[in-house]
Order: sequence, then structure tokens, then C-alpha cells
Amino acid sequence: VNTTIEIPVVVNVIYSSSQQNISEDQIQSQIVVLNRDFQAQNTDYSLVPATFTGVKANMNYKFTLKSIVRKQSSKSSWGTRDAMKSSKKGGIDPTTPDKTLNIWVCNIGGGILGYAQFPGGSSTTDGVVIGPQYFGNKTFMASPNSAYLATPYDKGRTATHEVGHWMNLRHIWGDATCGSDLVNDTPTHNTANYGCPAANHKSTCAGAPVEMTMNYMDYTDDACMYMFSVGQKTRARAIFASNGPRAGFSA
Ligand code: ARG
Ligand code: ZN
Ligand code: CA
Repeated sequence: VNTTIEIPVVVNVIYSSSQQNISEDQIQSQIVVLNRDFQAQNTDYSLVPATFTGVKANMNYKFTLKSIVRKQSSKSSWGTRDAMKSSKKGGIDPTTPDKTLNIWVCNIGGGILGYAQFPGGSSTTDGVVIGPQYFGNKTFMASPNSAYLATPYDKGRTATHEVGHWMNLRHIWGDATCGSDLVNDTPTHNTANYGCPAANHKSTCAGAPVEMTMNYMDYTDDACMYMFSVGQKTRARAIFASNGPRAGFSA
């Protein structure tokens, strides 16, 4: 139940300016972040407060960059209706989505950092989409001065969050006031948290639990999210089982 699950990755870059045509260096830095965050190798993992050390988890996934596909386009905002995933609509069709994580890097617009498709949807649109200025982390780049990255979303955690959705994880507040993320060991949150909440931020939901604001599935700043839980690990890994919607990856 704890073997390393291998995730081949294809990154599809669609750009309307040279800045948006991000470097291979910037792309590789995002793969480093995914490997660290999904293997509990992130340096901030040790910041998880004592309240949650018993439930913090090593998800145990290994991401390998297979190829980069690039396309120039006159379109400067792609929205959230999957046009970037279709060559007919000016985008790039996914590469072998049943056994590859496709990531589209393009400007979404409307202040949206990224979005993802949950497991069980159409393979033609499967994967995650991230804006170029939220993709990667200068810490892991050979030439960081040239990177196109915007604080406070410059540590590559947008991809960590979106890949969490792609692995069936819900927002920690359950997209409702005191809603459920269908995971038992994550506390009930009032709503999304932003910025960098103070320690021991309490929920006003039933039982007034301390909120797990440092969970990747909240909305806090990149520097303030650094853990998945054991319950999230169980939920995410279930979809890679031989009878699950992402069985093609468990080879
Ligand atoms: N889907 C979210 C959005 O676009 C992504 C939030 C990512 N959060 C982060 N700290 N990088 O609004
Ligand atoms: Zn989200
Ligand atoms: Ca929960």
C-alpha cells in the first residue's frame, strides 16, 4: 500500500509572449517541487505544528518529465473551459492521458492561478492547467534571474494543489461553510484561508477545531502550505488501484 507511484509528466506550454514561453529550467524546477512535496522532502515539512505531526503524510509519488510541447498563439487568455487542451480550439491535445499527467501552462486570466480535472472525467481534457507566472520555483533553477514568477505564488505550490485535485482531493473547507473534504483527519474549516494565517487559527465550526491552514488543499500563500494528511494520502492513492480511474499509472 505504500509503493512509489510513478507519474510521467508532459508539459504543454502555450504562449502569446516570450515571457509566457517559460524556460526548460523553470519547468524542471516545478518537477523538483512536485517530487519534494509529494515525497515529504520539502524543507518546510518540518514546520508542521505538533497538533498535526501525527497525521502528516508522505504521499509517495515520483514525477518524471517525459517531454515539453510548445505552441505559440495569439490568444492571451484561455479561461477555464478547456480550450487549451484541444488543437481544434487552438490549444494542444493531451499526450496519452490514461498514463500521463498532462500539464498545460498558459495564461488563464481572471486572476485564476490554476485549475484541474478530477478523476473519472473525459480523457481528452484530463490534467491540470497553471498560469506561467505560478509555475516553478526559483530556488531550484540554474538561472533564477530570468524566471517569470509572481509572489506570493512563486514556490510551485499551485501545481501541488492542482495535482492534489487531479488525485481526487477536495478543498479542505469542502467548498461550503464548514463543509466536508471527505477526509476524516483534516479538521473542518469555516471557509478558505488566504495569506499566511497565525498559528492555532481556530474554526468556529462544530467543536471549534484548530484549522490545518498549512494543508496544500487550502488557499494560503505558497510559503504557508506544506503538508498533505494521512487521510488525503489514502483517498488519493485509491484512484490508482487496479480498479480505479487512474489504474493506467500503477504499472
Ligand atoms: N485553484 C486555485 C486558484 O486558482 C489555486 C490556488 C493555489 N494556491 C496557491 N497558494 N498556490 O485560485
Ligand atoms: Zn483548488
Ligand atoms: Ca475533513
